[in-house]
Amino acid sequence: MTDPAVLPFLPFTRPTLDEATIGSVTEVLRSGWLTSNGPKVQAFEKQLSAYVGGRPVRTYNSGTCTMEIALRIAGIGPGDEVITTPNSWVATANVIIEVGATPVFADIDPRTHNIDMTAVEAAITPRTRALIPVHMAGLPCDMDALYALAHRHSLRVVEDAAQAIGSTWKGRRIGSFGDLVSFSFQVNKNIMTAEGGCLVVNDADEALLAEKYRLQGVTRSGLDGIDVDVLGGKLNMTEIAAAIGLGQMARLEEFNARRLALARHYFGCFGSDFEARYGAELPVADFGQCNWHMFHLVLPDRITRAAFMQKMLDHNIGLGFHYAAIHLFTFYRERGFKEGMFPVAERVCRQIVTLPLFPTLTEADVERVVGAVKAALG
Ligand SMILES: Cc1ncc(COP(=O)(O)O)c(C=O)c1O
Repeated sequence: MTDPAVLPFLPFTRPTLDEATIGSVTEVLRSGWLTSNGPKVQAFEKQLSAYVGGRPVRTYNSGTCTMEIALRIAGIGPGDEVITTPNSWVATANVIIEVGATPVFADIDPRTHNIDMTAVEAAITPRTRALIPVHMAGLPCDMDALYALAHRHSLRVVEDAAQAIGSTWKGRRIGSFGDLVSFSFQVNKNIMTAEGGCLVVNDADEALLAEKYRLQGVTRSGLDGIDVDVLGGKLNMTEIAAAIGLGQMARLEEFNARRLALARHYFGCFGSDFEARYGAELPVADFGQCNWHMFHLVLPDRITRAAFMQKMLDHNIGLGFHYAAIHLFTFYRERGFKEGMFPVAERVCRQIVTLPLFPTLTEADVERVVGAVKAALG
């Protein structure tokens, strides 16, 4: 048998970049127009808008600032509470504090790992103004329950769809309906621009605000007309990033189809008795709506995550963990959060690992990962 340690290193993710895209980046570099609102950014925004059914879309240099801007567009600020999940990248909660509002967490569903709508409803107070649900690993939240609840309580929704490009709900793409929807194009995402993001807004007025917030609050008119009437940042996407985005966009459906095929292969290799035999939890087997941004495993309590990750590293396989519970970070503990507040998220976030999944992974790689997982779980 081949010594697993001499097999090539398998990371949990890896970007897929083709020569045509690299060529288009070179073209931008030679063109002289490298940054703001050039032809590539405009073309990328047009394609993204078409992808979400014609809703207005504006691009940015991260999927973090998109959410911050979404909160600003929704008028969220000091005195307001925003309910979100403790199971996300810390950006999801940080943006609430950035705009001066107060984050309120609600626990997650143990199977989907998405925010539990019953817990959300229980967390609503007279100060609640908005919700930031996350479509974790690309598995959509229950959109019917989410928007019914938001309407019932007159709340704005900022969907953190950082991981959900190409995911659908009952046949409709995430982003093509709902309120404000934020996508990330950070390097690990199903399509990436190295760093970047975009925000889907509701109408032309919001689109105008979305533009002002991304570039110092500036409005231009004529040849030399300029005014600033809101406080904006420097958050625009570069032409270089947009060139990468256009190359990725052309392959989004192919990438997502490949991820789906690999996810199916994972389930086939683990087999139907895996959970009962090893005590680990597989993700929801959603082969219709999820874009398979990640493939998660929740480990049994009998093994620590660090020990498991080390065993996988001994097989030359690198895992991720998405995520650590946000409310247990020092910064959040200092704001009154502590262990025991969100027990489901705390268990999942302590024991979750991310297995390799990216378009250039092979079926043989999946078989190798599953073999190593079973060996590591003994
Ligand atoms: C769920 C989630 N929210 C927010 C973000 C922030 O996006 P970005 O890294 O593009 O700022 C990410 C990605 O890193 C994410 O996965």
